[in-house]
Amino acid sequence: MSIPKAELHLHIEGTLEPELAFRLAERNGVALPFGSVDELRAAYRFDDLQSFLDLYYRLMDVLRTEQDFTDLAEEYLTRAAAQGVRHAEIFFDPQAHTARGVPIETVINGLGAALDRSEAAHGISTGLILCFLRDLSAGSALDTLESAKPYLDRITAVGLDSAEVGNPPSKFTAVYERARELGLRAVAHAGEEGPASYVWEALDLLKVERIDHGLRCLEDEELVARLVRERIPLTVCPFSNVRLRCVDTLADHPLRRMLDAGLVATVNSDDPAYFGGYVGQNLTETAAALGLTAQQQYTLARNSFEASFLDRQTRDRYL
Ligand code: ADE
Ligand code: ZN
Repeated sequence: MSIPKAELHLHIEGTLEPELAFRLAERNGVALPFGSVDELRAAYRFDDLQSFLDLYYRLMDVLRTEQDFTDLAEEYLTRAAAQGVRHAEIFFDPQAHTARGVPIETVINGLGAALDRSEAAHGISTGLILCFLRDLSAGSALDTLESAKPYLDRITAVGLDSAEVGNPPSKFTAVYERARELGLRAVAHAGEEGPASYVWEALDLLKVERIDHGLRCLEDEELVARLVRERIPLTVCPFSNVRLRCVDTLADHPLRRMLDAGLVATVNSDDPAYFGGYVGQNLTETAAALGLTAQQQYTLARNSFEASFLDRQTRDRYL
């Protein structure tokens, strides 16, 4: 039986398995530029974040109806439960759908139908994190946030994802301020491909409570000291870092160094359909590649609950 864990860095659109993509393409009459599941899977070779994002956004075109989003989330929750996930804080990218003419209510209601059943059906409590696409304008992010106002009871936090370099957190200071006014918590991708200065900005300007990825914090001793001192969690995604070539191989991954430095690191799957496995596989294979002790693996699972947005009482039951 796998160790209970929380998953805190998971893009629901990144759980779109090739088989489901083809099923939805057929159901919705959408043409895919791939002849078969195998041909599509063969395209999952990436040079960097952008080469992945190009396919990730292209494939989303099959997601059209509430039922599609429900099916997507339901498949993820089924897989996550089998890997010991007890709590999931799930990212979604509304702008990637509204830009294609799919209303935000379709996305949220569709995902919500699966999440509403999740505790009873899978034993997984859930939260939704609305992510802004950082390569779009701050105005577009603000419009998206305003359009989500009817659904705030479903949304735990805001996040920031997509192409990082050239799109620093500072671009979204006002948007995050507005999100805080609306009572939302805050996280942001930073230090995946972008520099350590983006992690500082996410902390100081966006006032985030967690950093998604954060790999490049290791280039800045003062930053590491702050993250350790303030116990700011990093949601690390080992398979993703290898597939997007932020790290050469799993054996070169800095996760062990992060733990040794006292950072509150957690292990997550990011976009598991694209990167070769779900969170349990990320944990097991990374632990094997780095020779992590049982105690270090336990610490990672414990960190995942400490870093979550669960209320204190529920969180403490897992610690
Ligand atoms: N969107 C989906 N996965 C992402 C990642 N790893 N980095 C930035 N944006 C993303
Ligand atoms: Zn991510």
